[in-house]
Amino acid sequence: MAKSKAPSKPGKFITLEGVDGAGKSTHLDFLAEKIRARGVELVVTREPGGTVLGEKLRHLLLNEAMQPDTELLLMYAARAEHVATVIKPALAKGAWVLSDRFHDASFAYQCGGRGIDANRLLDLEEWVLGDFKPDLTLLFDVAPKIAAKRRAQARAADRFEQEQAAFFTRVREAYLLRAKVEPDRIRVVDSALDIELIRSDLDWILQTI
Ligand code: TYD
Repeated sequence: MAKSKAPSKPGKFITLEGVDGAGKSTHLDFLAEKIRARGVELVVTREPGGTVLGEKLRHLLLNEAMQPDTELLLMYAARAEHVATVIKPALAKGAWVLSDRFHDASFAYQCGGRGIDANRLLDLEEWVLGDFKPDLTLLFDVAPKIAAKRRAQARAADRFEQEQAAFFTRVREAYLLRAKVEPDRIRVVDSALDIELIRSDLDWILQTI
């Protein structure tokens, strides 16, 4: 069997984040297309999920009532599997990885939204991720009212989407705080803008990595 050509540059890991209804799913296909146009292999994946086990955990996480600690631990169980069996192997062979959510979501939803102490998360991050981080995170940011309107138009709400407005306000604030701390990695995209403007913004950001 012919060996595939070695990639000329190492893989990049890009993650998409934002409150439910911020519109990240709308931009995922556009981003994937732009990345593939660079001639690189791309793995598109998501969290929670991205592996057979992770998708089973996703089903539980999105549908079953559970304690906040259980929720955080299951998110990290799914992430451990995802990182070890999908993300790192793909990057190692030179592919790029685009993940619909990653560890910033745990900070925003479980710490910001649910109120879990951020030190708990730091322990899990250190354990599961070490210093492994995305090369670029696109944070789709929008006012809670607009996000709520978009959620209302979408399909049946899951366990997170059923939360009240105050929950999403806390999630958004936690995301923005994270972006302030890591401005080089996390790029905030104004999701209230017209779709074409957002696309040119994304296009421009992609050129920078
Ligand atoms: P989401 O990514 O919004 O998928 P869809 O577009 O299909 O609704 O759904 C995943 C949900 O999981 C979302 O509400 C946020 C939540 N979540 C966390 O609370 N913590 C995490 O660490 C991750 C990855 C997701």
